Amino acid sequence: MNFIHYDKIDSTNSEALRRLSGSNDIRSLDQTVIAAFEQSAGRGRMQRAFYSPAKSGIYFTAIHAPKNPIQEPAKLTAAAAVAVCRSLKDLLGIEAKIKWVNDIYVNQKKVCGILAEGHLSKEGKIDAAAIGIGINIYQNDFPPEISARAGSVLDDRQGKKSGGDLRVQLASDVCQKLFELLNDEEKNKAALLEYASLSFIIGKEITVIPVIGEQESSYKATVLSIDKEARLHVRLFDGSERALSSGEISIKL
Ligand code: BTN
Repeated sequence: MNFIHYDKIDSTNSEALRRLSGSNDIRSLDQTVIAAFEQSAGRGRMQRAFYSPAKSGIYFTAIHAPKNPIQEPAKLTAAAAVAVCRSLKDLLGIEAKIKWVNDIYVNQKKVCGILAEGHLSKEGKIDAAAIGIGINIYQNDFPPEISARAGSVLDDRQGKKSGGDLRVQLASDVCQKLFELLNDEEKNKAALLEYASLSFIIGKEITVIPVIGEQESSYKATVLSIDKEARLHVRLFDGSERALSSGEISIKL
């Protein structure tokens, strides 16, 4: 693993994609991590900004550039979510849960978001991915628009006890675990089962917000299961069932 650290950057995902676009040999960037203590233009899903202030979190992007093109990008996000939950448990003893598709929750608050973006080859294949992860560690003062659902892994008091290196330690542990999952098919399969078991939305009523660009508007449904491809199976109120592989859901906590 090649760990590159910035104090501040626009976005670690943008930097990873810039490096991929500027390289003649993207394979050499496999297992590179771009990490930062602060982002001036952190990006989230659905073209939202990702709040990335200094001193309170860690923002990092793992580059995955495998030998063969990436066929199932949804599995990258799922593997990343499992890696984050495992690291929080191993390093801090914290039981985190997953809200499909890529949010990590602790004590019913979102403490981490994941954004995987593909890099396309000249032939239009996804030849690499930038898997971006932002974790709120000590933050307890969020902007009003996210303060109801955003939280941190540690409160201030615990944060002070844990020391300054925790941010880097956490990023590097998550990436080590993630690369291990991405490079071993059997471990990856097992991680997808763990992904489903770490999810806290099974049996719950949710609102499905289709991805931008789709014509359909939001609708309510009940979550039935998450399958081994990380697809969400839901039942609508008219009794019909759907398997979702993208989009966003909201849930009342
Ligand atoms: C989301 O919650 O919608 C996903 C947020 C992903 C944020 C991370 S922080 C590191 C990386 N760089 C970015 O600009 N975004 C991702």
